[in-house]
Amino acid sequence: MTTQLDLDRLKKAAALEAVEFVRDGMIVGLGTGSTAKHMIVALGEKVRAGMRLRGVPTSHETAALAKEAGIALIDADSRWELDVAIDGADQVDPGFNLIKGGGGALLKEKIVAASAKQFIVLVDYTKQVPMLGGSFPLPIEIIPFGWGSTAREIESLTKSRVVLREKNGAPFRTEAGNLIVDVHIARIHHPKDLEIALNQIPGVVETGLFIGRTSILIVGSPHGVDIHH
Ligand code: 5RP
Repeated sequence: MTTQLDLDRLKKAAALEAVEFVRDGMIVGLGTGSTAKHMIVALGEKVRAGMRLRGVPTSHETAALAKEAGIALIDADSRWELDVAIDGADQVDPGFNLIKGGGGALLKEKIVAASAKQFIVLVDYTKQVPMLGGSFPLPIEIIPFGWGSTAREIESLTKSRVVLREKNGAPFRTEAGNLIVDVHIARIHHPKDLEIALNQIPGVVETGLFIGRTSILIVGSPHGVDIHH
């Protein structure tokens, strides 16, 4: 049986491989989550060893970790071009398409991934699935105004149960002040089409589908770390 501790070790092993793609002087998009945390700590060690790096964090949590690790952050509200973005994922299919947003940071994560020359994704092997959907609900960030109507539209498009995400008994708020609904969709046969259709619903800000964005996938598994280009 694989425990959480084992999985965390595999995430760390993948993160240590990922930071080898980072070169002196690069601007790095910093993902959010427990896998990204290992990557940030490892980048901090590179900075302490003399590497010059600047980062763009995808959440307040990541910004705090990066500062602690000694990584200089660039003004998040300006125009930047990232050499690389490195992040975790909740599911990955054989085409390297992803579901992200388990931590609720999907909006910034997608903006950062989209503006990077390379998007490196790190997962432990349990995140690999033959098809997106099923074991992990699809997160969608929506505007609070009329959220119930937006959720109804999503429900009717996906024919799936749509649940408003909560934290401590209250609706979960993203860093942009929006809400998240989790869509319990069985199997996503055509993820690109679904992403396009969801983005056409008024009130939808962004979906957790990251389609055709992954440049390199790094998978930590009990038999070692696999790097897929
Ligand atoms: C946060 C994310 C994370 O990358 C995703 O949830 C994976 O998290 P972890 O590395 O903790 O397993 O998308 O919004």
